Amino acid sequence: MLRTHTCGELNLKNTGNAVFLCGWIHRSRDLGGMTFTDLRDRYGITQLVFNMETDALLCEKARKLGREFVVRVGGIVTERSSKNPKIPTGEIEIRVTELEILNESRVPPFTIEEHTDGGDDLRMKFRYLDIRRTPVRDALMLRSEMAAATRTCLRSMGFVEVETPVLIKSTPEGARDFVVPSRMNRGEFYALPQSPQTFKQLLMVAGMDKYYQIVKCFRDEDLRADRQPEFTQIDCEMSFVDQDDILHTFEGLVRYLFQEVKGIQIGELPRMSYADAMKNYGNDKPDTRFAMLIRDLSMQVKGRGFKVFEDAEVILAIAVQGAASYTRKQLDELTDWVKRPQIGATGLVYARVQVDGSVKSSVDKFYSPADLAGWAEVCQAGKEDLILVLAGPEKQTRKAMSELRLEMGSRLGLRNKDIFSALWVTDFPLLEWDDETGRWHAMHHPFTSPKPEDTSLLDTDPGNVRANAYDMVINGVEVGGGSVRIHNRNLQQKMFALLGFSETEAVTQFGFLMNAFEYGAPPHGGIAFGFDRICALFGGADSIRDFIAFPKNNSGRDVMIDSPAPLSTDQLKELGIAVPEPGTNASGSSQVI
Ligand code: AMO
Repeated sequence: MLRTHTCGELNLKNTGNAVFLCGWIHRSRDLGGMTFTDLRDRYGITQLVFNMETDALLCEKARKLGREFVVRVGGIVTERSSKNPKIPTGEIEIRVTELEILNESRVPPFTIEEHTDGGDDLRMKFRYLDIRRTPVRDALMLRSEMAAATRTCLRSMGFVEVETPVLIKSTPEGARDFVVPSRMNRGEFYALPQSPQTFKQLLMVAGMDKYYQIVKCFRDEDLRADRQPEFTQIDCEMSFVDQDDILHTFEGLVRYLFQEVKGIQIGELPRMSYADAMKNYGNDKPDTRFAMLIRDLSMQVKGRGFKVFEDAEVILAIAVQGAASYTRKQLDELTDWVKRPQIGATGLVYARVQVDGSVKSSVDKFYSPADLAGWAEVCQAGKEDLILVLAGPEKQTRKAMSELRLEMGSRLGLRNKDIFSALWVTDFPLLEWDDETGRWHAMHHPFTSPKPEDTSLLDTDPGNVRANAYDMVINGVEVGGGSVRIHNRNLQQKMFALLGFSETEAVTQFGFLMNAFEYGAPPHGGIAFGFDRICALFGGADSIRDFIAFPKNNSGRDVMIDSPAPLSTDQLKELGIAVPEPGTNASGSSQVI
């Protein structure tokens, strides 16, 4: 070992010890007779002291060290005269007697500090430097701890980790597939798994009983703060269980992670039906850290001649606690906010509950004081609360109100990242109608079973069939989702038919699974957690980006290795992919031959 200690572990107890440390030059202060240098590694920072009087040559050498040079120093641990209580090594320093430069460094393109001056793209291009920064390093350390705790917990419950293949064929789970051409099978392609869904089900047929895998999944979809084209799931499946068993088991995993990693005890997770989540929160992933429930004001506002409300399919309201003092300017700004295309409302009506309990609204000429008191009652608005009302088509208005609720929650400081509110959302619809394709789509995926009591509706009223499907939601983030699966060939076939698959298509794509169901498939179900999302949530971040060592940017590019990139003509030929002659194909796309 080149070092006896790390830069994060020495303290007063080591005073007088001769030590060797290795690390990167973080910063230096030259005070004439003395040079103070912070040496950094992933464990922390230790102050080095070079003294002109005791060793002028060494001090001269130290003065020439640039930021991020890699060095090995030997010296004596000494008590500091001016201590730094903010860091664990802040009471000592190393009086350096030996200095070896292990490698030099060019000046880094951004500061390696907690708050850097580097923009996103620059940080990603030099990600190896970015990871030297404390917040990114800590995020990756947290991730490692989470993975270890997940394995400990699942193993203790008897789950077996099994790896499933990465070169597979497409499974329809909502997103586009990334595909890989096959050299040996010209014109044919593998797809990268969007999830190991069918394989984990086959493992149940194979009798593995309790499976898990911390696994990369790939989805070619538009990126957001909580989405990456390649992300990681904690993927799990169990046999001989019902929905309750699955919810209890995986609630146990999440409870264990909170306890082990954050030292927080979370109680039993409440359950909320999809219908209630949509009604009260306008959203199937409700942020339940605060109430501010969405109320329907239709009964109170219709029939008074206010055209906007008369014409609206729904009129929804929330009561914002203590916000009656909002000024006209603030309300105008909020109105502009709801009118932004991302929110899509046409306008905002408001009513203030005064200190004396009376209500004053922006549409007073249509509504009597008694009417307005009715609004306050429905919204459970108290004195000094502000009632915000949106009206319009059901789906769009509910979505806009959900956004407004979250925005008001943020403005009121009700979305504290150190508070965790977890729940299960259950009873999702099995199918949703897609206007664009004119077909039913599986809301979760085609392998999800309908609730037995709703199975008869499959033929008559498919839209009202509820699924044995559930999501775990924490602080408004969907951290996991799963279902009890279909394990019967006929029902699976019927499901494919409902989803618009011809019999041949179903057999071509999923014959392997349906065949397996004919060889003693046990009842089974499972869940997959978005591992990156749980890590980000535990780390108090909105974006999953820093919890992934080498993430893609918003255009799906890795700007460090510059990928995706074109292939050489030779490679393309070998794969049987024709390269268009320059100028013959404006789009530049290749064709399979
Ligand atoms: P689902 O598609 O709901 O279910 O995915 C499970 C969880 O994975 C996370 N997730 C993502 N995280 C980051 N980037 C993405 N692009 C991304 N997409 C999804 C979410 C989500 O809740 N096979 C089923 C699971 C099952 O039924 O057992 C599945 O993949 O947190």
